[in-house]
Amino acid sequence: MFESLKPVGLDPILSLMIAFREDPRTTKVDLGVGVYMDDRGRTPVMNAVKRAETKLMALENTKSYQGIGGDAEYNKHMLALLLGASHSVIGSGRTTSIQAPGGSGALRVGAEVITRARPNAKLWVGVPTWPNHVPLLGSAGFEIKEYPYYDMETRQINADLMMETLRSVPAGDVVLLHGCCHNPTGADLTNAQWDEITEIALERGFLPFIDTAYQGLGDGLEEDAYGMRVMAEKLPELVIASSCSKNFGLYRERTGSITFVTKNADDAKLVLGQAMSVARQMYSMPPAHGALLVSLILGDEELRSEWTTELEEVRLRILSMRTLLADSIQDNALGMDFSHIKRQKGMFSFLGVKPEHLVRLREEFGIYIVSSTRINLAGINSSNIKYLSDSIRTVLNG
Ligand code: LMR
Repeated sequence: MFESLKPVGLDPILSLMIAFREDPRTTKVDLGVGVYMDDRGRTPVMNAVKRAETKLMALENTKSYQGIGGDAEYNKHMLALLLGASHSVIGSGRTTSIQAPGGSGALRVGAEVITRARPNAKLWVGVPTWPNHVPLLGSAGFEIKEYPYYDMETRQINADLMMETLRSVPAGDVVLLHGCCHNPTGADLTNAQWDEITEIALERGFLPFIDTAYQGLGDGLEEDAYGMRVMAEKLPELVIASSCSKNFGLYRERTGSITFVTKNADDAKLVLGQAMSVARQMYSMPPAHGALLVSLILGDEELRSEWTTELEEVRLRILSMRTLLADSIQDNALGMDFSHIKRQKGMFSFLGVKPEHLVRLREEFGIYIVSSTRINLAGINSSNIKYLSDSIRTVLNG
């Protein structure tokens, strides 16, 4: 029967990751997939994670099934990490959160629950967005609509057009927002813009669905949560998909969670039942290891403080690479301005060069960049910055 299948290409980000691994050149530079790398080009296991693993080895006395919603302690800690332990909505009975297989699993559970509640809801995504958002969420049955987000010319958010479009979103539709460290542009909403979108959501009656995969990598753990927290405070309903891949470095452990804020405690119970039913139908139960580590870290003062220190080092290293790259390739003579890289947040920015430049960078210099020109700033380090900036300048100089 399988001969009837049509060939399908691999996801562009993941196929770039494979091409990079297969490139034998020792000078190659990986600015593709969104994975943190330190100054030695490694993606290390955080010390807090290592210590939690040692603790877990001693504590863990069963590998029996955990349950559809995952680890209850993890769910409590994640809610507090996202919304802040003293947030008014926590303890009101209006929130429910379950563990999910990574941020992608969380997004999908959220989408399935929403489409069960409102089968005709349309999902509004910003342009551009993470390329997998559309297939991942569209497969849950959403019709996809778009709102303008980033202006390639000015290299910043096109706030006027974005707000104007959001003002036309019908009640009951869903608007996807990036919590912080926008992927792929690095252009984040200001607190005032979050306030404005919250007001529009209230007026129009649409449901914000926030994808937050980089809390702590932008302005800081608390600062990066502003949008989620203000929406949870002011709106009757909200959905948040979160990931521990980047801020705990737990990529392959597939550690995420899906959180719902509902109008009242009865709705929260309904949503929890539906989320568990969706999970059971798709993957039955989430993997345990990563969530148990996060739970141990967030539940222990010393481990938590070690983790926040390490996360801050990650954030500051990426920030310093932003400045280093932008200053190294700035070329006023060529009329090219790269100062947006310094202003933006998190792992990514668009380099903003032409497609033929990307091809040359990859073929001649072994520099791997996603076709949108999105670069992962964490792929830059003190050993490759000169090679990288010289290569970019060579290519731009024609
Ligand atoms: C990315 O955007 O590069 C990461 O989130 C990895 C992925 O799955 O695409």
